[in-house]
Amino acid sequence: MKLFIDSGNIKDIETLVAIGIIDGVTTNPSLLAKEPGNYRDNLKRICQIVKGPVSGEVTATDFAGMIQQGHDIAAIDEYMVVKVPLTRDGIKACKTLSGEGIRVNVTLCFSAAQALLAAKAGATFVSPFVGRLDDVGTTGMDLIREIVDIYENYDFTTEILVASCRHPIHVVEAARSGADIATCPPAVIDQLFNHPLTTIGLEKFLKDWEKTQAVKA
Ligand code: G3P
Repeated sequence: MKLFIDSGNIKDIETLVAIGIIDGVTTNPSLLAKEPGNYRDNLKRICQIVKGPVSGEVTATDFAGMIQQGHDIAAIDEYMVVKVPLTRDGIKACKTLSGEGIRVNVTLCFSAAQALLAAKAGATFVSPFVGRLDDVGTTGMDLIREIVDIYENYDFTTEILVASCRHPIHVVEAARSGADIATCPPAVIDQLFNHPLTTIGLEKFLKDWEKTQAVKA
């Protein structure tokens, strides 16, 4: 399963990409709004760092505006992916942009019916938000399992990009369900490394080693 960073923060992205396990980046207007500087320059810089798919989202809500902004975003860099919301105009824009060979990530997906429309419109990625579904008392991962089933039934090529991941269990369950990608904030990616027994085990190994080296010295 591919792992994307869900952030517009260049420093955090540089740190995680340097480890070698990151495959892409997703942003949205809220994440980019938090960062200093021009959003276009920031997206360009992020593309140069990650050298993988980087999603930048349109803020227009009408078809014509989405197409104009979509072309603008796609022109920032070869790694750019245009993010559009799962609305009528968003699906229509996805169909047009993907028809022009532009990669589209259909975001704000909360139902299997919506995910079916994104695949039929030729989306490269669909982004179901599991954390926000959990927030309203429904099990977000159930939606991922539904979408995996539907996409497999019809060999849709749209990749399932699990978004709004709030903790490592979302990432593990995404992988177990056969999703293609999970995108997580840097803090959640940091948690993926952690296990107390790893820390305790390493400490003991090193202490035993130093003890024996001290005796032999
Ligand atoms: O890109 C979508 C993601 O950023 C939403 O995450 O935690 O705001 O639900 P969250």
